[in-house]
Amino acid sequence: MCGIIGFFSDSLSKEKIIDSLKRLEYRGYDSAGLAIIEDKKIKRYRCKGEIKELEKKLKNIQIKANICIAHTRWATHGKPSEENAHPHTDCTGKISIVHNGIIENYLELREKLKKKGHVFKSDTDTEIFAHLIEDKLNKNLINAVESAVKEIKGNYAFAIISSLEPDKIIAVKKGAPVVIGIGFDEYFVSSDIPAFLKYTNKAIFLQDNDICVISKNGIEIKNNDKEVKRLVQNIKWDSEQAEKKGFSHFMIKEIFEQPEVFEDTILGRFNEEKGEIHIEGLDTEKLKRIKNIRLIACGTSYHAALAAKYLIEKYAGISAIAEIASEARYSEPVIEKNTLLITISQSGETADTIAAFNNIKKKVDFTIAIVNVVGSTLSRLADYVIYTHAGPEIGVASTKTFTSQMAVLYLLTFQIARIKKKMTTDLIKKYLKNLRKMPEFIIEILKSKDEIKKIADKYYEQKDFLYYGRNVNYPIALEGALKLKEISYIHAEGYPAGEIKHGPIALIDDKVPNIFVAPESRLYGKIINNIEEIKARGGKVIVITNNKNKKISKYVDDVIYIPDVDEDFYPLLAVIPMQLLAYFIGVKRGINVDKPRNLAKSVTVE
Ligand code: G6P
Repeated sequence: MCGIIGFFSDSLSKEKIIDSLKRLEYRGYDSAGLAIIEDKKIKRYRCKGEIKELEKKLKNIQIKANICIAHTRWATHGKPSEENAHPHTDCTGKISIVHNGIIENYLELREKLKKKGHVFKSDTDTEIFAHLIEDKLNKNLINAVESAVKEIKGNYAFAIISSLEPDKIIAVKKGAPVVIGIGFDEYFVSSDIPAFLKYTNKAIFLQDNDICVISKNGIEIKNNDKEVKRLVQNIKWDSEQAEKKGFSHFMIKEIFEQPEVFEDTILGRFNEEKGEIHIEGLDTEKLKRIKNIRLIACGTSYHAALAAKYLIEKYAGISAIAEIASEARYSEPVIEKNTLLITISQSGETADTIAAFNNIKKKVDFTIAIVNVVGSTLSRLADYVIYTHAGPEIGVASTKTFTSQMAVLYLLTFQIARIKKKMTTDLIKKYLKNLRKMPEFIIEILKSKDEIKKIADKYYEQKDFLYYGRNVNYPIALEGALKLKEISYIHAEGYPAGEIKHGPIALIDDKVPNIFVAPESRLYGKIINNIEEIKARGGKVIVITNNKNKKISKYVDDVIYIPDVDEDFYPLLAVIPMQLLAYFIGVKRGINVDKPRNLAKSVTVE
């Protein structure tokens, strides 16, 4: 996720800017840059790669400014490069901006502005906004910003400076965070507190639609054209706590980010009123020809692939196979004509996934990569790339990237089904409305964290756990078991519930916890039979089921409730308590859940 830091300070120095940028490094970034106003002119310094590259660029430069905006970029539109690094400017170079978030209607605005003669120098959505301000400029910068904001859609945070009014910084917020730091005789505008915590612990959190102007007059905030006052808060965190937003670990912070991440992933990608899906750049003509789909991935990404297999076959009516990439790389698959290869990877750099992709790619009609890291190897190798926009994930065990992958896979499934006329528009509309509601359902589940922690406290000393699910919930059983293994070092297995009698039943005793994904869906009766099999042998049963299913609590040891939804959306919700359970067990066992032993976030070797 991009990081913004802006300074309005008489004690500004190069070292101060670099230090604050470094404090935003934890957010993940691929390029960095800054702009200052000196002698009524904007000067920009940008680079691809690490902040130390920016330091090298600034080596012989003296900074004599008191206004600066700086940025760490996590690419979403356009590869990591110096041209795409922030700050961006308008045609005249008199307006400079940094941005965090996504401008949803940037293509449309870009075309409009091009017709008016604007020339763009980057591939970013951000640059549009600088040009839009220029377009609206009629003497007053603030008015121009206000009217430019009215034309953009999406989630965003901006910090804006201009040599036309060199004595102010303007900050704009909708969706993405902006916090204003209030120092003794200086101000800061940032995406997050750690960037200025060294200088002050007094902060104002801007609210959506706030436009804040920092000048010699202090701070003035307007919301929907009305002046507003915002509370000044005293921050009690130290800088490490601040990076984790007060959470104990990155993993739990990332689990709690899922509602927001889900919204970012689906942002601008569908219209539920019309039943239309727009996945940027995807060639719908090519999708029409597709008769088979192969999905390849590793780890958590493979579980998303496997869930997608069930969804694609059910809704798009075409054959789908999900394969573990380390196997697929050495297989000699017989590929039918008109096959689409989909690869899923958070990092886009997993060695097995890349090798499997290269092994199969030549035999298929076309390829799609669903990745989180912009410009990564898989994003470059595939014919099309769909970014998950989950932001950087610091915890080694994937959490928020799984939900974002699932969000993309639902959309892709419905898009293929729509093109192939396998789903009615009414059903698509209904399901898109479902997707829109997922963030609020996830929030509801997160609220039950204390109950899940109690279950963790009850079972954390066990040596084995078994997880079960059926159909589209089976991959969630695998994911639950994987999460537990990764961060608690407890042996855990995920099984299709129907397989109990073919092996796992031999393990049942009065200790091993058996966790079932058992919402009241099509195969609920079958799952109940499986639960009976375990109970009859004295096994412990924990069930994840839907809110309305209160009666089950009489038959099992523990129940975790999730909201009632259409049955194929349960995987998306059931995974959240699995993540929480694994997290609380891992913490209770004293494990470093953010960096479990022997594991790597991105496995770039075979
Ligand atoms: C490693 C990580 C997992 C991840 C897997 C695949 O094993 O620890 O969390 O699911 O790699 O990574 P990818 O980046 O390809 O999704």
